[in-house]
Amino acid sequence: MVDTNDMYSMVKEFPGLLTKYKLGNEIQETCGRIGDEGLNGIVIIGMGGSAIAGLYVQSLFKESASIPVLTNLDYTLPAFVDSNWMTIAVSYSGNTEETLAAYNEAIKRDSPTFIIASAGELISKDNCLRKIKIIEGYQPRAAFPLIFTPILNLIECAMGLKPTQLENIADSLSKKIVEWESSPLAPRNFAQDLVGSAPVFIGSKHLVPVAYRAKCQINENAKTMAFFSEIPEANHNEIESFTARNEFEILPIFLRSLYEDTWIQKRMNITAELYEEEGYSPVRLSIRNSSKLEEMLALTLYLDLVSVEFAQIRKVDPLSIERIIKLKNELNKDRQKL
Ligand code: PA5
Repeated sequence: MVDTNDMYSMVKEFPGLLTKYKLGNEIQETCGRIGDEGLNGIVIIGMGGSAIAGLYVQSLFKESASIPVLTNLDYTLPAFVDSNWMTIAVSYSGNTEETLAAYNEAIKRDSPTFIIASAGELISKDNCLRKIKIIEGYQPRAAFPLIFTPILNLIECAMGLKPTQLENIADSLSKKIVEWESSPLAPRNFAQDLVGSAPVFIGSKHLVPVAYRAKCQINENAKTMAFFSEIPEANHNEIESFTARNEFEILPIFLRSLYEDTWIQKRMNITAELYEEEGYSPVRLSIRNSSKLEEMLALTLYLDLVSVEFAQIRKVDPLSIERIIKLKNELNKDRQKL
């Protein structure tokens, strides 16, 4: 039984949560029909822990989809989203104001819309096509695997593809949690290496959202600064900041993929060497896997565990989101005055 008062226990649930939701026949048919009628694009709306799964799916489809798959992290929607776009609105709490505003906009534009939420205002809407109610009690960021699979499967159905089954990946991830514990890669050891410096997670292609997720997990769970960037773009700007004369302790962490093409591989290697020459100690992180999807999920799980270990080392509560709540309360006060 998962202890939702303990972030470590929630993160360890990751593999099981990946296979928790299967789309029923009815929802698969609805999605397939919308796809057959012809879509110009698919937009996923959400914020923070509820948006990140959308960014993963967006990157998975980036090079293969014939229509755009976008994640929208804002109150508003791009003007081109209309009734020929499918919308997936995601909010774990169901009460995030940006997501609710973008949802209302999607409905106004007659976009066929699906909802994924555990509670709140969003799950009680009755003007959408279909709703997927996920279990309550988790922190939104720990609900990533609960949210990821339905988004992936909805989009696959809309594109006429068979929904990916994640059982094999889930099994492999469960084994990895045990293996990591007794290896030099133990998340605790990795977290220990982060002490005293701000990590910059650097990814390429499908590992860009993984780098972004790692940054957010360190920010939110371990309550400290972390950054992310992507290759090749970082080779055109950020690289200039890695000089020997830096006032800050920065730890570059290269998320290495087994699927890098020759030029990305060369760029990753040369960039790490240049950073070394300037006195940095770049870390190269890669995890054995059997597909790009497993690679994304395995690195995510590993770095999620690292973020919780880091919180423990820093003696901070990974569950608390004091400042996010304060900000939301201030906005609510102002809204009530209107
Ligand atoms: O991790 C978190 O708690 C936040 O990033 C939330 O996900 C974010 O504030 C949005 O809330 P929700 O996921 O409930 O829509």
